[in-house]
Amino acid sequence: MSKLLVTGRKKLSGETYVQGAKNSALPVLAATILTKGENVIYNCPVLSDVDASARILRYLGCKVSRSSGAVIVDADTVDRCDIPDELMRKTRSSIVFLGAVLARTGKARMSFPGGCEIGLRPIDMHIKALRQMGAVIKEKHGYLDCAAPNGLRGAKITLSFPSVGTTEEIMIAACLAQGTTTVTNAAREPEICDLAEYLNKCGAKIYGAGEGVMVIEGVTSLNASHHSIIPDRIVAATLMSCAAVTGSSITLDGVICSNLASVIPVFEEAGCSIKCRSGKLEFNAPEKLKSMKTIRTMPYPGFPTDAQAPLLAAACVADGTTVFVENIFENRYRHTGELMRMGANIKTVGKVAVVEGVNSLYGTYVEATDLRGAASLVVAGLCADGQTEIGGVKYLERGYENFELTLSELGADIKKI
Ligand code: EPZ
Repeated sequence: MSKLLVTGRKKLSGETYVQGAKNSALPVLAATILTKGENVIYNCPVLSDVDASARILRYLGCKVSRSSGAVIVDADTVDRCDIPDELMRKTRSSIVFLGAVLARTGKARMSFPGGCEIGLRPIDMHIKALRQMGAVIKEKHGYLDCAAPNGLRGAKITLSFPSVGTTEEIMIAACLAQGTTTVTNAAREPEICDLAEYLNKCGAKIYGAGEGVMVIEGVTSLNASHHSIIPDRIVAATLMSCAAVTGSSITLDGVICSNLASVIPVFEEAGCSIKCRSGKLEFNAPEKLKSMKTIRTMPYPGFPTDAQAPLLAAACVADGTTVFVENIFENRYRHTGELMRMGANIKTVGKVAVVEGVNSLYGTYVEATDLRGAASLVVAGLCADGQTEIGGVKYLERGYENFELTLSELGADIKKI
């Protein structure tokens, strides 16, 4: 089991390119199942979650290869409609394959995706939406048996919550459905817009992505296309947290600043200065961060839940108190226990975490329990006195491509052992 060794208090400097967005690559890869011909997905990050999706695509019969940052998928030879349990459990996002397999083959059999460390991750909204589109879904013994013998049909769907995964599931299932689907209260994340852009390049008719109401007119077929994945806004927010806690000035390349509109003001409140120009984000941190008052995680365009953990680590060494309210997932403060081992002063009650800034954290052994929690421990290690040993690096590798390499190139003293 690999670990990370971080020696704190090293300043960062220089420029780094932000990887492609994991949460865009995963649904786009699933959507390739709908297409004829060879898709080339550029700027696809090298991550274990992406590898897991590639394994599912290969199992279903697709030809999948990688060449210099791009993933190439040819789905013409899809000849299965089931996904085995061990492949489903690898990532939560595997549920988005359900709509794709159903739309492509007319049936699908797969196990419930694993819940994960941040919450139960139910799929009731996914199931309800697909049933509204004519799918017959039987749930038994942890398996989903789905059929759409006469194909899927367009439906008027209103989501009780702007669920990202459910919105993606519907978009993918509706592209080849008979008739028109409208989604009210759809998720508006940039990754939703990226998926819509890819599908429309393939010949889909998706309107209103990124707005509250989305319309998808079913078409008869989709042709493979070339697409470049948008930059990962959460990796950008994590790198900004790394610079913030080390009083550093760094430049992030390939960032879409408008996708960080709810994150940038939080760093500015903490005393950082941020300039966006021609696809680059110039970040300058003060020697000592000010507290960020209150951060409430919300569906996009609100503050992203995935950035809560890295920013909470930064709040641990800010001057004053920062209150976090985690409104999206029910168990997303597990990293606070590990941060307290490093001397952080945090009290969590339900959705709320109250972080009293301390003068400094100290290095010790800590264990990651989920993807963004692992990132928060790296942020903390970068500013702690002495050396921090971080276990559970596999969680980090789910969403951060060569993160320790990126940070050491910026001047951090961090290595994987
Ligand atoms: C996506 O998860 C992201 N994952 C998550 O990123 C992200 O935190 C989340 O969206 C919110 O932005 C991917 O895109 C692969 P949701 P998803 O459906 O689709 C509840 C990361 O760190 N819900 O918007 O699962 C659910 O339990 C990951 O990169 C239901 O109740 O998020 C949660 O409380 C973590 N029933 C809330 O909605 C359902 O059927 C938001 O979930 C579906 C969801």
